[in-house]
Amino acid sequence: MKKIEPAKRVENVTYAIRDVVVEAKKLKAQGKKILHLNIGDPNVYDFVTPQHMVDAVKDAMQKNLNGYADSAGVDEARQSIAKECEKTGIKNVTANDVLLANGVSEGIDLALTSLVNSGENFLTPLPGYPVYLAIAHKLGCPLNQYMTLEENDWHPDLDDMRSKINDGTRAIVVINPNNPTGSLYSKKTLEEIIDIANEHDLVIFADEIYNKILFDGEKHVPIASISDDVPVVTLGGLSKNYLVPGWRVGWNIFTGNNKAREDFQEATFRLARSRLSSVGPFQYAVKPALEGPQDHITDMNKRLQERRDLLYKRLNEIEGFSCTKPKGAFYAFPKFDLPIDDDKKFIYDILYKKQILAVFGTGFGYPKPDHFRLVFLPPMDVLEESFNKMEEYAKEIK
Ligand SMILES: Cc1ncc(COP(=O)(O)O)c(C=O)c1O
Repeated sequence: MKKIEPAKRVENVTYAIRDVVVEAKKLKAQGKKILHLNIGDPNVYDFVTPQHMVDAVKDAMQKNLNGYADSAGVDEARQSIAKECEKTGIKNVTANDVLLANGVSEGIDLALTSLVNSGENFLTPLPGYPVYLAIAHKLGCPLNQYMTLEENDWHPDLDDMRSKINDGTRAIVVINPNNPTGSLYSKKTLEEIIDIANEHDLVIFADEIYNKILFDGEKHVPIASISDDVPVVTLGGLSKNYLVPGWRVGWNIFTGNNKAREDFQEATFRLARSRLSSVGPFQYAVKPALEGPQDHITDMNKRLQERRDLLYKRLNEIEGFSCTKPKGAFYAFPKFDLPIDDDKKFIYDILYKKQILAVFGTGFGYPKPDHFRLVFLPPMDVLEESFNKMEEYAKEIK
Protein backbone atom coordinates (compact mmCIF):
# COMPACT_ATOMS: atom_id res chain seq x y z
CA MET A 1 0.00 0.00 0.00
CA LYS A 2 1.34 3.40 -0.98
CA LYS A 3 1.62 6.08 1.68
CA ILE A 4 -1.64 8.07 1.88
CA GLU A 5 -0.94 11.75 1.30
CA PRO A 6 -3.16 14.27 3.10
CA ALA A 7 -4.63 17.12 1.05
CA LYS A 8 -2.36 20.13 0.57
CA ARG A 9 -5.08 22.42 1.91
CA VAL A 10 -4.53 21.24 5.48
CA GLU A 11 -0.74 21.46 5.29
CA ASN A 12 -0.64 24.83 7.02
CA VAL A 13 -3.55 24.37 9.40
CA THR A 14 -2.38 24.65 12.99
CA TYR A 15 -4.23 25.34 16.20
CA ALA A 16 -1.73 26.52 18.77
CA ILE A 17 -4.27 26.53 21.61
CA ARG A 18 -4.58 22.76 21.46
CA ASP A 19 -1.05 22.01 20.17
CA VAL A 20 0.64 23.18 23.41
CA VAL A 21 -1.55 20.81 25.42
CA VAL A 22 0.25 17.78 23.94
CA GLU A 23 3.47 18.77 25.69
CA ALA A 24 1.68 19.58 28.96
CA LYS A 25 0.10 16.13 28.96
CA LYS A 26 3.54 14.53 28.92
CA LEU A 27 4.50 16.50 32.04
CA LYS A 28 1.21 15.62 33.69
CA ALA A 29 1.92 11.95 33.02
CA GLN A 30 5.16 12.42 35.00
CA GLY A 31 3.07 13.57 37.96
CA LYS A 32 3.65 17.32 37.51
CA LYS A 33 0.86 19.77 38.42
CA ILE A 34 0.17 22.07 35.49
CA LEU A 35 -1.11 25.63 35.90
CA HIS A 36 -3.59 25.94 33.05
CA LEU A 37 -3.69 29.46 31.69
CA ASN A 38 -4.26 28.27 28.17
CA ILE A 39 -7.81 27.35 27.35
CA GLY A 40 -10.89 29.53 26.91
CA ASP A 41 -13.23 27.01 28.48
CA PRO A 42 -14.86 28.38 31.65
CA ASN A 43 -16.09 24.93 32.69
CA VAL A 44 -12.52 23.68 33.07
CA TYR A 45 -12.24 26.17 35.94
CA ASP A 46 -14.81 27.13 38.62
CA PHE A 47 -17.68 28.27 36.37
CA VAL A 48 -20.77 26.09 36.24
CA THR A 49 -23.64 25.88 33.73
CA PRO A 50 -26.88 27.44 35.04
CA GLN A 51 -29.14 24.64 36.28
CA HIS A 52 -32.24 25.82 34.38
CA MET A 53 -30.37 25.29 31.10
CA VAL A 54 -29.37 21.76 32.09
CA ASP A 55 -33.00 21.06 33.03
CA ALA A 56 -34.24 22.37 29.67
CA VAL A 57 -31.95 20.01 27.76
CA LYS A 58 -32.85 17.04 29.99
CA ASP A 59 -36.50 17.85 29.44
CA ALA A 60 -36.04 17.98 25.65
CA MET A 61 -34.31 14.60 25.72
CA GLN A 62 -37.04 13.11 27.89
CA LYS A 63 -39.64 14.38 25.44
CA ASN A 64 -37.72 12.48 22.77
CA LEU A 65 -36.70 15.62 20.92
CA ASN A 66 -33.66 13.62 19.93
CA GLY A 67 -34.17 13.51 16.20
CA TYR A 68 -32.62 15.81 13.61
CA ALA A 69 -33.55 19.41 14.25
CA ASP A 70 -34.70 21.73 11.45
CA SER A 71 -31.60 22.53 9.36
CA ALA A 72 -31.83 26.20 10.26
CA GLY A 73 -32.38 25.44 13.94
CA VAL A 74 -35.35 24.74 16.22
CA ASP A 75 -38.01 27.36 15.90
CA GLU A 76 -38.22 28.46 19.56
CA ALA A 77 -34.46 29.08 19.60
CA ARG A 78 -34.55 31.12 16.38
CA GLN A 79 -37.49 33.19 17.71
CA SER A 80 -35.70 33.81 20.97
CA ILE A 81 -32.50 34.95 19.25
CA ALA A 82 -34.53 37.32 17.03
CA LYS A 83 -36.18 38.72 20.18
CA GLU A 84 -32.78 39.20 21.82
CA CYS A 85 -31.73 41.29 18.80
CA GLU A 86 -34.45 43.82 19.62
CA LYS A 87 -33.02 44.11 23.13
CA THR A 88 -29.48 44.71 21.89
CA GLY A 89 -30.54 47.21 19.22
CA ILE A 90 -30.17 45.02 16.13
CA LYS A 91 -33.23 46.00 14.09
CA ASN A 92 -35.61 44.11 11.79
CA VAL A 93 -34.43 40.59 12.60
CA THR A 94 -36.94 37.76 12.19
CA ALA A 95 -36.44 34.09 13.00
CA ASN A 96 -35.84 33.56 9.26
CA ASP A 97 -32.62 35.56 9.53
CA VAL A 98 -31.24 33.28 12.24
CA LEU A 99 -29.28 30.09 11.53
CA LEU A 100 -28.31 27.75 14.35
CA ALA A 101 -24.96 25.99 13.99
CA ASN A 102 -22.70 23.58 15.86
CA GLY A 103 -21.01 26.41 17.67
CA VAL A 104 -19.87 29.69 16.19
CA SER A 105 -17.08 27.61 14.66
CA GLU A 106 -19.49 25.92 12.27
CA GLY A 107 -21.48 29.11 11.72
CA ILE A 108 -18.33 30.89 10.50
CA ASP A 109 -17.48 27.96 8.26
CA LEU A 110 -20.95 27.77 6.69
CA ALA A 111 -21.16 31.49 6.00
CA LEU A 112 -17.62 31.95 4.70
CA THR A 113 -17.93 28.85 2.51
CA SER A 114 -21.12 30.32 1.04
CA LEU A 115 -19.50 33.69 0.36
CA VAL A 116 -15.89 33.39 -0.66
CA ASN A 117 -14.54 31.61 -3.74
CA SER A 118 -11.15 30.00 -3.74
CA GLY A 119 -8.55 32.61 -4.68
CA GLU A 120 -10.63 35.38 -3.09
CA ASN A 121 -9.95 36.54 0.44
CA PHE A 122 -11.41 37.91 3.64
CA LEU A 123 -9.72 40.19 6.15
CA THR A 124 -9.00 38.82 9.62
CA PRO A 125 -7.42 40.55 12.62
CA LEU A 126 -3.86 40.15 13.81
CA PRO A 127 -3.60 38.76 16.37
CA GLY A 128 -6.81 36.81 15.91
CA TYR A 129 -8.70 33.64 16.59
CA PRO A 130 -7.14 30.82 14.52
CA VAL A 131 -10.31 29.16 13.18
CA TYR A 132 -10.56 31.87 10.50
CA LEU A 133 -7.15 30.95 9.17
CA ALA A 134 -7.98 27.23 9.11
CA ILE A 135 -11.11 28.01 7.07
CA ALA A 136 -9.14 30.24 4.70
CA HIS A 137 -6.72 27.35 4.06
CA LYS A 138 -9.62 24.96 3.54
CA LEU A 139 -11.32 27.26 1.05
CA GLY A 140 -8.12 27.96 -0.86
CA CYS A 141 -8.15 31.63 0.14
CA PRO A 142 -4.86 33.47 0.60
CA LEU A 143 -4.58 34.87 4.13
CA ASN A 144 -5.23 38.60 4.34
CA GLN A 145 -4.77 40.12 7.77
CA TYR A 146 -5.01 43.58 9.31
CA MET A 147 -3.07 44.67 12.37
CA THR A 148 -4.57 45.65 15.68
CA LEU A 149 -2.44 48.04 17.70
CA GLU A 150 -1.24 47.40 21.24
CA GLU A 151 -0.55 51.11 21.74
CA ASN A 152 -4.20 51.80 20.93
CA ASP A 153 -5.63 49.18 23.31
CA TRP A 154 -5.50 46.65 20.49
CA HIS A 155 -8.03 48.51 18.34
CA PRO A 156 -7.83 47.74 14.60
CA ASP A 157 -5.35 49.73 12.54
CA LEU A 158 -7.90 51.13 10.09
CA ASP A 159 -5.28 52.40 7.64
CA ASP A 160 -3.81 48.93 7.51
CA MET A 161 -7.30 47.46 7.06
CA ARG A 162 -7.95 49.82 4.13
CA SER A 163 -4.59 49.12 2.53
CA LYS A 164 -5.17 45.34 2.60
CA ILE A 165 -8.39 45.45 0.58
CA ASN A 166 -7.92 44.24 -2.99
CA ASP A 167 -10.11 43.06 -5.89
CA GLY A 168 -10.54 39.63 -4.31
CA THR A 169 -11.61 40.84 -0.86
CA ARG A 170 -15.16 39.86 0.13
CA ALA A 171 -15.45 40.35 3.88
CA ILE A 172 -13.98 41.82 7.04
CA VAL A 173 -13.93 39.77 10.23
CA VAL A 174 -14.24 41.81 13.43
CA ILE A 175 -13.84 40.00 16.76
CA ASN A 176 -15.31 42.17 19.52
CA PRO A 177 -14.66 41.64 22.43
CA ASN A 178 -11.48 40.15 21.13
CA ASN A 179 -9.75 36.85 21.53
CA PRO A 180 -6.77 36.95 22.21
CA THR A 181 -6.41 40.60 23.33
CA GLY A 182 -9.52 41.24 25.47
CA SER A 183 -10.01 44.49 23.56
CA LEU A 184 -13.47 46.08 23.31
CA TYR A 185 -13.97 48.41 20.33
CA SER A 186 -15.48 51.88 20.49
CA LYS A 187 -18.57 52.83 18.50
CA LYS A 188 -16.42 55.22 16.48
CA THR A 189 -14.06 52.42 15.42
CA LEU A 190 -17.01 50.23 14.45
CA GLU A 191 -18.54 53.06 12.42
CA GLU A 192 -15.30 53.48 10.53
CA ILE A 193 -15.17 49.75 9.78
CA ILE A 194 -18.75 49.97 8.45
CA ASP A 195 -17.69 52.88 6.20
CA ILE A 196 -14.77 50.85 4.85
CA ALA A 197 -17.04 47.85 4.18
CA ASN A 198 -19.59 50.13 2.50
CA GLU A 199 -17.00 51.70 0.21
CA HIS A 200 -15.86 48.27 -1.01
CA ASP A 201 -19.14 46.27 -0.92
CA LEU A 202 -17.85 43.91 1.76
CA VAL A 203 -19.76 41.76 4.23
CA ILE A 204 -18.87 42.23 7.90
CA PHE A 205 -18.49 39.10 10.02
CA ALA A 206 -19.08 40.32 13.57
CA ASP A 207 -17.79 37.63 15.92
CA GLU A 208 -19.46 38.73 19.14
CA ILE A 209 -19.35 35.46 21.04
CA TYR A 210 -18.05 37.31 24.16
CA ASN A 211 -20.59 40.16 23.99
CA LYS A 212 -21.82 39.71 27.58
CA ILE A 213 -18.42 39.27 29.23
CA LEU A 214 -17.52 42.87 30.01
CA PHE A 215 -15.71 44.75 32.80
CA ASP A 216 -15.66 48.21 34.40
CA GLY A 217 -19.29 48.87 33.42
CA GLU A 218 -18.34 48.87 29.71
CA LYS A 219 -21.12 48.49 27.14
CA HIS A 220 -20.87 46.37 24.02
CA VAL A 221 -22.06 47.88 20.74
CA PRO A 222 -23.19 45.19 18.29
CA ILE A 223 -21.86 46.27 14.91
CA ALA A 224 -25.16 45.20 13.28
CA SER A 225 -27.02 47.68 15.53
CA ILE A 226 -25.31 50.59 13.79
CA SER A 227 -25.17 49.22 10.26
CA ASP A 228 -28.36 49.71 8.24
CA ASP A 229 -27.06 49.02 4.77
CA VAL A 230 -23.85 47.00 5.01
CA PRO A 231 -24.62 43.27 5.33
CA VAL A 232 -23.50 41.88 8.66
CA VAL A 233 -23.31 38.28 9.83
CA THR A 234 -23.37 38.48 13.62
CA LEU A 235 -21.90 35.38 15.20
CA GLY A 236 -23.10 34.57 18.69
CA GLY A 237 -23.60 31.55 20.86
CA LEU A 238 -24.03 29.89 24.22
CA SER A 239 -20.45 28.61 24.64
CA LYS A 240 -18.94 31.44 26.62
CA ASN A 241 -21.72 33.74 27.93
CA TYR A 242 -23.78 30.77 29.06
CA LEU A 243 -20.99 28.44 30.13
CA VAL A 244 -21.61 25.50 27.79
CA PRO A 245 -18.80 25.30 25.22
CA GLY A 246 -19.27 21.55 24.93
CA TRP A 247 -22.89 21.86 23.85
CA ARG A 248 -21.91 23.34 20.48
CA VAL A 249 -24.67 25.91 20.15
CA GLY A 250 -23.92 28.96 18.05
CA TRP A 251 -25.80 31.12 15.59
CA ASN A 252 -25.52 33.45 12.61
CA ILE A 253 -27.77 36.49 12.37
CA PHE A 254 -28.05 38.02 8.90
CA THR A 255 -28.79 41.76 8.74
CA GLY A 256 -28.22 44.76 6.47
CA ASN A 257 -29.48 45.59 3.01
CA ASN A 258 -32.01 42.90 2.09
CA LYS A 259 -31.39 42.90 -1.65
CA ALA A 260 -27.63 42.89 -1.23
CA ARG A 261 -27.57 39.94 1.11
CA GLU A 262 -30.47 37.71 0.03
CA ASP A 263 -28.59 35.34 -2.32
CA PHE A 264 -25.67 34.97 0.07
CA GLN A 265 -28.03 34.36 2.99
CA GLU A 266 -30.03 31.78 1.01
CA ALA A 267 -26.79 30.03 -0.06
CA THR A 268 -25.72 29.72 3.58
CA PHE A 269 -29.07 28.20 4.58
CA ARG A 270 -28.85 25.85 1.57
CA LEU A 271 -25.39 24.70 2.62
CA ALA A 272 -26.71 24.22 6.17
CA ARG A 273 -29.43 21.90 4.82
CA SER A 274 -26.75 19.65 3.32
CA ARG A 275 -25.40 18.90 6.80
CA LEU A 276 -28.94 18.07 8.04
CA SER A 277 -28.94 19.94 11.34
CA SER A 278 -26.84 21.06 14.24
CA VAL A 279 -27.16 19.15 17.53
CA GLY A 280 -30.85 19.11 18.43
CA PRO A 281 -31.57 18.80 22.15
CA PHE A 282 -29.08 21.47 23.19
CA GLN A 283 -30.86 24.08 21.10
CA TYR A 284 -33.73 23.85 23.60
CA ALA A 285 -31.46 25.61 26.08
CA VAL A 286 -31.36 28.78 23.97
CA LYS A 287 -34.74 30.21 25.00
CA PRO A 288 -34.28 29.53 28.73
CA ALA A 289 -30.75 30.93 28.48
CA LEU A 290 -31.65 34.18 26.73
CA GLU A 291 -35.00 34.76 28.45
CA GLY A 292 -34.37 33.21 31.89
CA PRO A 293 -32.33 34.47 34.87
CA GLN A 294 -29.04 36.15 33.98
CA ASP A 295 -27.52 36.12 37.50
CA HIS A 296 -24.62 33.93 36.49
CA ILE A 297 -23.43 36.62 34.07
CA THR A 298 -23.26 39.26 36.81
CA ASP A 299 -21.45 36.77 39.03
CA MET A 300 -19.08 35.65 36.27
CA ASN A 301 -18.16 39.20 35.28
CA LYS A 302 -17.53 40.16 38.91
CA ARG A 303 -15.23 37.21 39.48
CA LEU A 304 -13.49 37.67 36.14
CA GLN A 305 -12.93 41.36 36.77
CA GLU A 306 -11.18 40.54 40.04
CA ARG A 307 -8.98 38.04 38.21
CA ARG A 308 -8.33 40.49 35.38
CA ASP A 309 -7.29 43.13 37.94
CA LEU A 310 -4.86 40.74 39.57
CA LEU A 311 -3.35 39.79 36.21
CA TYR A 312 -3.00 43.40 35.11
CA LYS A 313 -1.38 44.49 38.37
CA ARG A 314 0.98 41.55 38.84
CA LEU A 315 2.15 41.25 35.25
CA ASN A 316 2.94 44.93 34.94
CA GLU A 317 4.89 44.79 38.21
CA ILE A 318 7.20 42.04 36.99
CA GLU A 319 10.21 43.33 35.09
CA GLY A 320 10.13 41.70 31.66
CA PHE A 321 6.35 41.65 31.21
CA SER A 322 3.83 44.30 30.20
CA CYS A 323 0.16 44.11 29.41
CA THR A 324 -2.77 46.27 28.33
CA LYS A 325 -5.97 46.04 30.37
CA PRO A 326 -8.57 43.66 28.91
CA LYS A 327 -12.07 45.17 28.78
CA GLY A 328 -13.99 42.03 27.86
CA ALA A 329 -13.74 38.26 27.27
CA PHE A 330 -11.22 36.43 29.49
CA TYR A 331 -7.93 36.83 27.67
CA ALA A 332 -4.86 39.02 27.91
CA PHE A 333 -2.11 39.30 25.33
CA PRO A 334 1.03 40.37 27.24
CA LYS A 335 4.40 41.23 25.82
CA PHE A 336 7.61 39.77 27.20
CA ASP A 337 10.97 41.44 27.09
CA LEU A 338 13.30 38.73 28.35
CA PRO A 339 16.56 37.19 27.13
CA ILE A 340 14.67 34.61 25.08
CA ASP A 341 14.13 35.44 21.45
CA ASP A 342 11.14 33.39 20.43
CA ASP A 343 7.61 33.05 21.78
CA LYS A 344 7.41 29.27 21.27
CA LYS A 345 10.69 28.75 23.11
CA PHE A 346 9.38 31.00 25.88
CA ILE A 347 6.12 29.06 26.20
CA TYR A 348 7.84 25.67 26.32
CA ASP A 349 10.52 26.99 28.69
CA ILE A 350 7.98 28.34 31.16
CA LEU A 351 6.04 25.08 30.86
CA TYR A 352 9.05 22.86 31.59
CA LYS A 353 10.55 25.09 34.28
CA LYS A 354 7.44 26.43 36.01
CA GLN A 355 4.61 24.20 34.75
CA ILE A 356 2.70 27.23 33.46
CA LEU A 357 0.72 26.48 30.32
CA ALA A 358 -0.05 29.46 28.08
CA VAL A 359 -0.17 29.94 24.30
CA PHE A 360 2.47 31.62 22.11
CA GLY A 361 1.39 34.80 20.31
CA THR A 362 2.42 33.71 16.84
CA GLY A 363 -0.21 30.96 17.22
CA PHE A 364 -2.70 33.83 16.76
CA GLY A 365 -0.84 35.02 13.70
CA TYR A 366 0.95 37.82 15.56
CA PRO A 367 4.00 38.66 13.44
CA LYS A 368 6.45 39.46 16.27
CA PRO A 369 7.49 36.50 18.45
CA ASP A 370 7.31 38.48 21.71
CA HIS A 371 3.73 38.06 22.94
CA PHE A 372 1.66 35.31 24.48
CA ARG A 373 -1.94 34.73 25.48
CA LEU A 374 -3.04 34.21 29.05
CA VAL A 375 -6.50 33.13 30.14
CA PHE A 376 -7.67 34.67 33.41
CA LEU A 377 -10.43 32.17 34.06
CA PRO A 378 -8.53 30.29 36.80
CA PRO A 379 -9.34 31.03 40.47
CA MET A 380 -7.32 33.70 42.29
CA ASP A 381 -5.02 31.21 44.09
CA VAL A 382 -4.02 29.57 40.79
CA LEU A 383 -3.38 32.98 39.24
CA GLU A 384 -1.37 34.13 42.31
CA GLU A 385 0.79 31.00 42.11
CA SER A 386 1.25 31.48 38.36
CA PHE A 387 2.37 35.11 38.68
CA ASN A 388 4.72 34.22 41.55
CA LYS A 389 6.29 31.60 39.32
CA MET A 390 6.50 34.01 36.38
CA GLU A 391 8.30 36.46 38.62
CA GLU A 392 10.78 33.75 39.67
CA TYR A 393 11.22 32.79 36.02
CA ALA A 394 11.89 36.37 34.91
CA LYS A 395 14.55 36.75 37.64
CA GLU A 396 16.16 33.39 36.89
CA ILE A 397 16.68 33.91 33.16
CA LYS A 398 18.02 37.48 33.46
C1 LIG B 1 -13.46 34.63 18.85
C2 LIG B 1 -14.02 33.25 18.89
N1 LIG B 1 -14.89 32.87 17.95
C3 LIG B 1 -15.42 31.64 17.95
C4 LIG B 1 -15.08 30.71 18.89
C5 LIG B 1 -15.68 29.32 18.82
O1 LIG B 1 -16.88 29.28 19.50
P1 LIG B 1 -17.84 28.02 19.55
O2 LIG B 1 -17.57 27.28 20.83
O3 LIG B 1 -19.22 28.60 19.56
O4 LIG B 1 -17.57 27.20 18.35
C6 LIG B 1 -14.17 31.04 19.90
C7 LIG B 1 -13.76 30.06 20.90
O5 LIG B 1 -12.85 30.23 21.68
C8 LIG B 1 -13.64 32.35 19.89
O6 LIG B 1 -12.76 32.74 20.83
